[in-house]
Amino acid sequence: MNAPRTSARFAVFVSGRGSNFEALARAGFRDRIALVVSDRPEAFALEKARALDLPTFVSKDEKTILAELARRGISTVVLAGYLRILSREFVEAFRDPSGATRILNIHPSLLPAFPGLNAYAQAFDYGCKHAGVTVHLVEAEVDGGPILAQETFSIEDCASVSEVETRGLAIEHRLYAETLEWYLRGELHYETKKGRLCVSRI
Ligand code: GRF
Repeated sequence: MNAPRTSARFAVFVSGRGSNFEALARAGFRDRIALVVSDRPEAFALEKARALDLPTFVSKDEKTILAELARRGISTVVLAGYLRILSREFVEAFRDPSGATRILNIHPSLLPAFPGLNAYAQAFDYGCKHAGVTVHLVEAEVDGGPILAQETFSIEDCASVSEVETRGLAIEHRLYAETLEWYLRGELHYETKKGRLCVSRI
């Protein structure tokens, strides 16, 4: 068990549509979102943030972003469709005494399968019978880091990638909120397996 971060306010990082961000805001996290950060001024997610009356910040420059997060006392970062790879320096700035980072990400596959872009398409094109969703802590490796939660779903009857995506996004929106709830309550158990930090819910 860790100290609960029940008073923690966090920043959500977005690059595009922002459906995960919006789902988190609507799942009761709105008042905990201290800032919505985007690398793209045209990101639709920013419009959603403004509609929810949340502060936004646009920059591609990590040093500028880090300074803004520090200024606002933000201790936790939630990536939601953020398309940039965070640098080692950025990741280290959010390292916890537990050894894990305080940066969460959601990825549309059952990691470590199908990292990178278009993961639902990768699974569909491969002929997978099941696709998945992973919520994990971020390390300075693409879609790597301790896994917090995963869920699979059947795609055997999906005729297109967009069907897979529709099914997957519904799971993403629920799973991210559920995971963030217990993460912020500090219901975390850390253990090292074969040199790799693993985090599970207690
Ligand atoms: C989601 O599939 C998420 O898992 C991935 O990028 C997509 C972002 O969608 N990291 P949205 O911007 O949250 O709608």
